Amino acid sequence: MAYEIDKADLITLYPLATLEQFSRDFLRALGANDEEAAIITDGLMTASQWWHPGQGQGLEKFFRFFRQINNGGIIPNAKMEWVNEGPAYALLDAGKGFGYVSAHRAMTRAVEKAKVTGIAMVGVRHSNHFGIAGYHALHAAKNGMIGWAFTNAKAEMAPWGSAQVVLGTNPWGIAIPRKDTHAIVLDMALTMSGKGMMMWYEREGREMPDSWALTPDGKRTTDPAAAMQGPLLPIGEYKGYGLSLITDVLSGVMTGSLFGMTVFQDESHHDVGHVMLAIDPGAFMPREQVDARLEKLIAEVKSAPPIDAEKPVVLPGEVEFARMEQRKRDGVPLSRKTVDELRDLAQRLQVDFPL
Ligand SMILES: NC(=O)c1ccc[n+]([C@@H]2O[C@H](COP(=O)([O-])OP(=O)(O)OC[C@H]3O[C@@H](n4cnc5c(N)ncnc54)[C@H](O)[C@@H]3O)[C@@H](O)[C@H]2O)c1
Repeated sequence: MAYEIDKADLITLYPLATLEQFSRDFLRALGANDEEAAIITDGLMTASQWWHPGQGQGLEKFFRFFRQINNGGIIPNAKMEWVNEGPAYALLDAGKGFGYVSAHRAMTRAVEKAKVTGIAMVGVRHSNHFGIAGYHALHAAKNGMIGWAFTNAKAEMAPWGSAQVVLGTNPWGIAIPRKDTHAIVLDMALTMSGKGMMMWYEREGREMPDSWALTPDGKRTTDPAAAMQGPLLPIGEYKGYGLSLITDVLSGVMTGSLFGMTVFQDESHHDVGHVMLAIDPGAFMPREQVDARLEKLIAEVKSAPPIDAEKPVVLPGEVEFARMEQRKRDGVPLSRKTVDELRDLAQRLQVDFPL
């Protein structure tokens, strides 16, 4: 679901550099070390430039960091340990550290290993929300590898045929590196939308598509308020439910983290699991040939005639990279509500508030 910002009166634009500096200062005030503050800020700035503020992947995450650091759910500067390792796999115990940081370290390790073995899978356990999946996948692509990042998350989706939430939005980020241009980046939750976007629609007084969520008794609805306590609907109906289940097997069950209904339930113990996969695109045949064949496929895809001339076919990630350019130039949108709440938090932490 690609969301446009319809009601500009709910948002304000800020220079990227201002948000970046504030993010680092804020994270340092929370106890994050320089490396953690740099990785998290890079992730949050990517998210802020890619997504709609209602998707809640930008500075909105500070509220969760604040709560969880105060209740022991996130430990800044956590001791992370490699607990299990083979030539093409490894498992990192994140020790309740920042999810962005553990996932970044795990993908770095997966890339190092895949350079030797062609493919590597690195799991992470006892972690926290890792932010946007595409950020971690892109980290691999920037190093020449196909990156595939996924995680489990709070139960917000019901198994197909039920209205009882059991599984998470369990996002996937997959990045395919291209020569001399942006990677293809498919970065998506396995639900049609999220609660943040539903709340945004509610604030705008708009109806939402009836494919987003059900009422608690399992009825389709276009009223965001009616579905707030109900389950989010999976992408592709039962197929998205199946993907979410399998994602939880890999990232939750296999790594030793929580899974199913228990993930995220206790604020002081989210215990999220992730998996990072790095694949060398040149594992089967010479890389130049693969690169040339990839461009041929992309040319075929992009030359497919659009149904609506105003809406040409785009690659996954293309809209986000274009938005990134635009927001670098014009500013990054933050909701007024977020800015007000950040102001209060900055005061409590005695951090300069430049917004
Ligand atoms: N860590 C977590 O627990 C968690 C949970 C849910 C979502 N997220 C993150 O939230 C972000 C938003 O996810 P989302 O599912 O709402 O994203 P989305 O639905 O806006 O976009 C999903 C993907 O579809 C692609 N896309 C959109 N329109 C397209 C079109 N017309 N043609 C081709 N491709 C198109 C986008 O490029 C993107 O790769 C992601 O970064 C995701 O990783 C994180």
